[in-house]
Amino acid sequence: MTKNKNNETIWGSRIKNHTSSLFQKVGNSIDTDKRLYKEDIAGSIAHVEMLFKQKIISFKIKNKIIYGLNKIEKEIKNNRFKFKKTYEDIHMNIEKRLFQIIGDEAGYVHTARSRNDQVITDFKIWIKSSTKEISITLEKLIKNILNLAEKNINTIMPGFTHLKNAQPVSFAHYLMAYVEMFNRDKKRFKNNLDDLNENPLGVAALTGTSFDIDRYYTSKKLGFKKPTNNSIDTVSDRDFVLDFLYTSSVCSMHISRIAEDFIIWNSDGFNLINLTDKVVTGSSIMPQKKNPDLLEYLRGKTGGAYGNLFSMLTILKGLPLSYFKDLQDDKEIVFKTNDTLIDSIKILDEILKNMSPNKKRMLELASSGYITATDLADYLVKNHSMSFRKAYEKTAAIVNFAEKNKKKLNELTLEEFKKIEPKLDHNVLKVIDLKNSINSKKSYGGTSFDNIKKMIMKYKKKND
Ligand code: ARG
Repeated sequence: MTKNKNNETIWGSRIKNHTSSLFQKVGNSIDTDKRLYKEDIAGSIAHVEMLFKQKIISFKIKNKIIYGLNKIEKEIKNNRFKFKKTYEDIHMNIEKRLFQIIGDEAGYVHTARSRNDQVITDFKIWIKSSTKEISITLEKLIKNILNLAEKNINTIMPGFTHLKNAQPVSFAHYLMAYVEMFNRDKKRFKNNLDDLNENPLGVAALTGTSFDIDRYYTSKKLGFKKPTNNSIDTVSDRDFVLDFLYTSSVCSMHISRIAEDFIIWNSDGFNLINLTDKVVTGSSIMPQKKNPDLLEYLRGKTGGAYGNLFSMLTILKGLPLSYFKDLQDDKEIVFKTNDTLIDSIKILDEILKNMSPNKKRMLELASSGYITATDLADYLVKNHSMSFRKAYEKTAAIVNFAEKNKKKLNELTLEEFKKIEPKLDHNVLKVIDLKNSINSKKSYGGTSFDNIKKMIMKYKKKND
């Protein structure tokens, strides 16, 4: 008969009365942190291997514990494990079950550690692997955008500032802007991995331990670069959680901005892109409607990501060092952010596969709004030795004249151009041509067709 009786909390030898049932209900975290079971078991196995190597536990006990832990892992994987709220969290649930399987020797597993270092170790390992999953998902999305960009190098559309026609661009140039955003996200997630790569295991509750443990050994076993430096900081620190939440928020914000672009471009007023029926929904009353609900979902979910970041920042704000129950919420916050972000990246990917540019309308819109006026001003500077401000004034006068006469720039006669600026000749019509305008933006990072082609190639090579 094991001393650690079933249905008894681990601290039953000290705390004689049952905790209030209301607190048991709200204070347990098993429904959330059972997601850490694999990491918890890996951490415990590395821990007992180290305890054996350091002659703190015997060979036999180490093997028994590892046998029990492997059995538990299988049980959980096969849905045969009964999680109990009375044991609070994943750590206690596993330890309790270990007692049932191997008996009293399970009592050695918690030598020289505390749940305080255990939980951060599990959590860091979990965030590492989920970060990798997010990166892979982002890579797929980037590849998809690159393919779409490649097909749309010659698709001309208006580039907007203030949502007003600004200068003509290639649609691929917009798409490549999204590639830049997601590439930065990928880099940010990767940088986070470097920062969280220190092993918390072995700092115990907050002081370290009097046992002769080897934290370098567990670091290596669990894939960390080195042990953390200060035991108090280690159990208090959730910077790696904030990094994850911030990076996810930025990524989510990128998704939201793209969603907003698409919502606007899909609106009846703009009508620049089409969405297939796979990514729209209907209205319950207006039979004609096809609404971009999925894009709106993406934009909305960004609010949740920011909220989660601020929940965690607020939890940490006034918290004295070291561990407090407040910290337990970190996992629910991260899991929610993680799941929503992965879904959102996949949804955006699906939307891109079901979106096509309305090329005719893009060209039509790009042909309005005196969109090549800047090209004309630049031409005057380059060919008629004018200062840019002078050229701006002349071009504004031409635009005003055209607007007054309800004409587009390319509908003005050479005589009309010359009336305002006598130096202008027949070349002016070429200068204000949309394609010519785009192709002239050859400065590094500009929208010229050649630049875009090169940039797509560069990213395609990088992503292979
Ligand atoms: N479930 C707890 C959490 O996630 C584990 C750490 C508990 N430590 C403690 N001293 N109560 O925060």
